[in-house]
Amino acid sequence: MITASACAKMILCGEHAVVYGQPAIAVPVSDLRVMVSAKPAEQLMFTLADTGLQILDLAADAAITQIARLTLDALHIAPPPVEMHITSTIPVASGLGSGAAVSAAVARCLCQIAGKTLPVETINQLVYEVEKMHHGTPSGIDNTVIVYERPIYFVRNQAVEFISINTPLHFLIADTGIPAPTKISVGDVRRLYEHDPEKIQPILDAIGALVCDIQQQLQTGNAETIGALLTQNHQYLQQLTVSSPELDNLVNAALQAGALGAKLSGGGRGGNMLALVTPETLPTVKTALLAAGAVRVYETSLMGANKA
Ligand code: PMV
Repeated sequence: MITASACAKMILCGEHAVVYGQPAIAVPVSDLRVMVSAKPAEQLMFTLADTGLQILDLAADAAITQIARLTLDALHIAPPPVEMHITSTIPVASGLGSGAAVSAAVARCLCQIAGKTLPVETINQLVYEVEKMHHGTPSGIDNTVIVYERPIYFVRNQAVEFISINTPLHFLIADTGIPAPTKISVGDVRRLYEHDPEKIQPILDAIGALVCDIQQQLQTGNAETIGALLTQNHQYLQQLTVSSPELDNLVNAALQAGALGAKLSGGGRGGNMLALVTPETLPTVKTALLAAGAVRVYETSLMGANKA
């Protein structure tokens, strides 16, 4: 049996502004993963554990078959006769990158089946192609952090920069339970921008400046300052209209329960928010998030995630 996997991701800061050329920081969430296992079959097919007995063959017009076709082309091989079984612990459509993780895991599994390797950047580009088919104009941040599985400072169309995180940071990720397609919030920000660029551009610039501050703080290690900057980032995202009453409610609940900072993460309107906590405040903030309506709360830590 051949197996491969890929992690989830969380956008720490800079979402939406990153679409307009500002920097953003994203980190892998390695505890949540898509797993793919392959066993011999009559032809290449995909079975999806999450959606019951769904079976896709290579002709299906789904993201899974698109990444398979692109990877097979890049490997210059014919479809192998295997059944690829996909399972996942990443919630779907909630800003944790489940789609990009499925693509990355399928591409990696096909490489193993072929007994060949593709450069990591090639896999990143293949996953990006599929993201484009499904999300319109993605910045590329999701596929990059997931494929490299390292914290990144990301600027659209620039070489990826891996960042040092020199202080232990503990996060709670809380799910509103509201699926929110990123394409819609990205489109709404675009309309806002086109309607009144003089009002929106300064907000995007301010988010970019804040991301630079956070990057420096990640190296010098002041969790309190990082928390305050994250909360400020949420306020800018409110101004871009991508928050929602549910997200604001969870952000307020986390801050009132003692989180150092809190903000929505990803496309917004629903999906997830994150709260920066300490080991001491973690249990209280988690209880507060669940009491405020979070349907799931995940814990993740960044610790000594240094440059290679
Ligand atoms: O995929 P999500 O929902 O985590 O958000 C992607 C981040 C955006 O900046 C909103 C869009 C993009 O393509 O960068």
